[in-house]
Amino acid sequence: MMIQGFKNKLIKTQGVQGLARGLASAAAATPSPRTYGGLKDQDRIFTNVYGRYDFKLKGALKRGDWYKTKEIIHKGEDWILKEIKDSGLRGRGGAGFPSGLKWSFMGKSSPGRKRYLVINADEGEPGTCKDREILRHEPHKLVEGCLLAGRAMLANAAYIYIRGEFVQEANNVQTAIDEAYKAGLIGKNACESGYDFDVYLVRGAGAYICGEETALIESIEGKQGKPRLKPPFPADTGLFGCPTTVSNVETVAVAPTILRRGGSWFAGFGAPRNSGTKLFCISGHVNNPCTVEEEMSIPLRELLERHCGGIRGGWDNLLAIIPGGSSVPLLPKHDCEVAAMDFDSLRDLQSGLGTAAVIVMDKSVDIVAAIARLSAFYRHESCGQCTPCREGTTWLDNMMTRFVAGNGHVDEINQLMELTKQIEGNTICALGDAAAWPVQGLIRHFRPELERRLKSGDRDAVLKDIYVPNNYSVTF
Ligand SMILES: Cc1cc2nc3c(=O)[nH]c(=O)nc-3n(C[C@H](O)[C@H](O)[C@H](O)COP(=O)(O)O)c2cc1C
Ligand code: SF4
Repeated sequence: MMIQGFKNKLIKTQGVQGLARGLASAAAATPSPRTYGGLKDQDRIFTNVYGRYDFKLKGALKRGDWYKTKEIIHKGEDWILKEIKDSGLRGRGGAGFPSGLKWSFMGKSSPGRKRYLVINADEGEPGTCKDREILRHEPHKLVEGCLLAGRAMLANAAYIYIRGEFVQEANNVQTAIDEAYKAGLIGKNACESGYDFDVYLVRGAGAYICGEETALIESIEGKQGKPRLKPPFPADTGLFGCPTTVSNVETVAVAPTILRRGGSWFAGFGAPRNSGTKLFCISGHVNNPCTVEEEMSIPLRELLERHCGGIRGGWDNLLAIIPGGSSVPLLPKHDCEVAAMDFDSLRDLQSGLGTAAVIVMDKSVDIVAAIARLSAFYRHESCGQCTPCREGTTWLDNMMTRFVAGNGHVDEINQLMELTKQIEGNTICALGDAAAWPVQGLIRHFRPELERRLKSGDRDAVLKDIYVPNNYSVTF
């Protein structure tokens, strides 16, 4: 009403042209929406991500690691937790849970029991290759991060659990740990702060499931890497029965810089609730696959064009991408046009940021075969404890393998979707969901391609080869 009255008055005094000018200048004064991306060098946390400089202590000190660590320790656990909460940091291991909150779950006392921080350096998610760059080239950021995150949790020690295949990574991390002990930065009276803190390196044997936090704990304890039923949660009963927090390499390695530069500095990057800088690892059909630190919420297209030289054969040759490691649903090209690389934008597109590992597929890709390959992976990696996952991943793999060859019935597409729904949310750990989501994404976005393939299949071959368990009836 008031605006209309204002417009009428304006028309009376200035005429229509005057009104147009008035509104145009008002529009010009409206700030344009914030854009994200184009992270400047001075804002990079990982300044040696490409290994161009010395990864050892001497090089790390030059890059600003271990600067005023003692003073940060003396500020105490409440100050550290507050800064991490203010920074808006969300876990970089896949789920995106707020780190400040998670690091406070162990509480302040656990009489008679030790307290542990466990670093998840398993990095088994297909397409994901960001933590390994930190382990190889910036191991001191991780070791210092262990000390400071450990201090926030009042932990006695950190265990860094690293996947078996990471040989050079394990060597470099061990070198950094040894150097830090020798320089008095960790161990008894770490950094002369009066705080005692040990760091141990444990090597896994290369099972994807050992990246799940409770399977990882079991593995450190020398048992088979099988996820635990929760509750109890690790914050209460974790490693060796003691309060434990499991955190991803990148999450912990960014903590020292956040604490030095301030939570509000980190919170200044990215869209609200999605703050910070982030390591993105881009593989597949781009001209220059790479791992790069960028501002959170950068548009996907800009990420690919600015850092990866664009799609092989040009943007129009793009078929689809998987934005967050193999566990999240794919995005077809039309969604890629609008996607921003953060938790909320990708969730709104029915996918996820996951580990921020972007797998790019151009039009040369057989999308059904690509997703079938992932189904085979999850079947292989299922630990077999729960029926929906053990049996469901086997069924997914069998059906997807048939679908690749056009061997099946169009009605089975709905059955396949139903199968993923039976797995999703019905298992002990999230591997079940991880197996279900890529197939759901395929059906959601490429149903016509599935139908085309199944319709063109050889019906006799379908009826002959189809695998039908005894207790299952199918009508054709
Ligand atoms: C099957 C499976 C594999 C996982 N693999 C990893 C991994 O390799 N690295 C990782 O940090 N988190 C992995 N996670 C997530 C962890 O369980 C856990 O959420 C994460 O380490 C927490 O760290 P954050 O809070 O810093 O994100 C995996 C989860 C599942 C279900
Ligand atoms: S969901 Fe799969 S991998 Fe996870 S505990 Fe169950 S069987 Fe094991």
